[in-house]
Amino acid sequence: MPETVRPTAPSSGLRVFMLGATGTAGRATVRALVKAGHTVTCLVRSSTSIDDDGKHHSLDLPSGVVLRVGDVTDAESLRRDGFQGERFDALISCLASRTGAPADAWAIDHRAHVLALAAAKHAGVQHMVLLSAICVQKPLLAFQHAKLAFENELISSGLTWSIVRPTAFFKSLSGQVERVRRGKPFLLFGDGRLTACKPVSDDDLGDYLAGCLTDPARHDRLLPIGGPGNAITPREQGERLFELTGQTPRFRQVPIVLLDGIRAVLEQLGRFNPKCAEKAELARIGRYYATESMLVLDPETGRYDAAATPSTGTETLFDFYAELLDGSRSVERREHAVFRASHEP
Ligand SMILES: NC(=O)c1ccc[n+]([C@@H]2O[C@H](COP(=O)([O-])OP(=O)(O)OC[C@H]3O[C@@H](n4cnc5c(N)ncnc54)[C@H](OP(=O)(O)O)[C@@H]3O)[C@@H](O)[C@H]2O)c1
Repeated sequence: MPETVRPTAPSSGLRVFMLGATGTAGRATVRALVKAGHTVTCLVRSSTSIDDDGKHHSLDLPSGVVLRVGDVTDAESLRRDGFQGERFDALISCLASRTGAPADAWAIDHRAHVLALAAAKHAGVQHMVLLSAICVQKPLLAFQHAKLAFENELISSGLTWSIVRPTAFFKSLSGQVERVRRGKPFLLFGDGRLTACKPVSDDDLGDYLAGCLTDPARHDRLLPIGGPGNAITPREQGERLFELTGQTPRFRQVPIVLLDGIRAVLEQLGRFNPKCAEKAELARIGRYYATESMLVLDPETGRYDAAATPSTGTETLFDFYAELLDGSRSVERREHAVFRASHEP
């Protein structure tokens, strides 16, 4: 960890430059930043339609947030369209590949961040908060290596850094709510007890990310983080859904060897066909999440440790399920393909 002594940030009112503001975690983080009194400027891509007044009403971002259109994969666009020669105090990134495919992951999770970091330094940024993922502690997949490579560049950048590695988001654990409501069985990998996680809500994560700016205890730290309460297995998720819908639990088990078979076939086909190679990576991602917990990994024992996984916030997955079932909440369907592939057998 760098030993430089840095000035403590003021308690509010920072000028924050934001990447990935249109995503699930990004939108929640922008809301939290505005609530905390910061001034937020977001760089979004040109496919994001922005009204003439510079706002995007369907994104549900608070008023006062400035949206700028540019290309995070282009150094010149980051400077010209994004930072625009202005001074900023902090960079927060919730930017992430939407596919998890190797080329996209290296282009977005790694290279775009390298370019953004350089542009941010030029704009006077002193602190970068990066949304990463807890699974990078056991990197087996291309997107995890891409994230880790940038984490390391940020750590050695000379800036103050906060790298937030959350466990699973609610949206990634809600794919079977509708099928259970329709009376179908809950699908499980293995017996549904192979893995566990401490789900964290969008708003609790957004508050945590925004809080990194002003909490010195979160400076120059790798920050694994989950939501409140005990770790939850997929089987427990199913049991609660049946309870909430007043049904007798019904599970269908998907054997892990089936995933291995699909992956092996796609890997062979992928030697000749790039589309199959991409699907093979998605199969590897699915297998990873079917067998690895989203909890802190004890490097000594190689075991996942729920007690060692810190918690933040107050919102629980099971309350969220109840709200999905009574129609008061909904899940964004355009979710991160990596985790859609992983948590929904
Ligand atoms: N889902 C989980 O359970 C989970 C758990 C732990 C950690 N995480 C991590 O959390 C991070 C964010 O997740 P999320 O669900 O909030 O992601 P998300 O909803 O998919 O949002 C991704 C953001 O990145 C932007 N983006 C992607 N490709 C881009 C490109 N080529 N050019 C410009 N912008 C681009 C998206 O912009 P557009 O809206 O324009 O596409 C969006 O703003 C990821 O790193 C993920 O690994 C997720």
